[in-house]
Amino acid sequence: MNAARSSTPLHFLGQFLRNPRELGSVLPSSRFLTKALVDEIDFSAARRVVELGPGTGVFTREVLQRLPGTGRLLALETNQSFVSRLRVELPDPRLDVAHLSAERVHDRVRECGWSDVDVVISGIPYALLPRQTTARIVQSSWGALAPGGLLVGYQYSPYLRPFLQRIFGNCRMKLVLLNVPPAVVFVSRKAPAEVRPPLATQGS
Ligand SMILES: C[S@@+](CC[C@H](N)C(=O)[O-])C[C@H]1O[C@@H](n2cnc3c(N)ncnc32)[C@H](O)[C@@H]1O
Repeated sequence: MNAARSSTPLHFLGQFLRNPRELGSVLPSSRFLTKALVDEIDFSAARRVVELGPGTGVFTREVLQRLPGTGRLLALETNQSFVSRLRVELPDPRLDVAHLSAERVHDRVRECGWSDVDVVISGIPYALLPRQTTARIVQSSWGALAPGGLLVGYQYSPYLRPFLQRIFGNCRMKLVLLNVPPAVVFVSRKAPAEVRPPLATQGS
């Protein structure tokens, strides 16, 4: 591990002391939580991925390792210190780190010229946000996803479940004990596109 990687928890703690509500935890996610979350993604089908709240980039690094060469990863982060760090530490042409709130994810995807994305990964501390902000982020993530696309995120409680149930209509949860604190991984899938009969057979 190089010096920059090993200072990650200290950088994270320093930012937590300055902005506790923005970060929501004192440490980055553990490698167990990272694996539990990233393992939910089928990288043979994922080309465009968005990450909300990358922090010091524990999920970002894992996604870049698994993402195909033609894939793209757009990360939205409100903390300028993390944005600067990720841009320096991860100069990967597939990665674009934007200093922007997750509430704007659908707008940003359109600004990139993309019709939609395959996966949204969320590291946002929703339980500390106003409920309307959480609803806007989940709604905007749903809007950005392709039919059949996946939202995967985590929290330290089941807080997010009703938002995902209401907007996606489904939500699977799994507990990850090996994290400080233990976490719940949430997985929701946007409904696939409606299957319509070919035009020639319609109305016949
Ligand atoms: C609990 S930390 C998670 C960091 C990293 N994903 C991890 O698992 O270690 C939450 C991150 O979300 C960022 N964040 C908080 N509110 C945000 C928002 N509205 N839009 C984008 N990022 C946000 C924080 O700055 C912080 O980096």
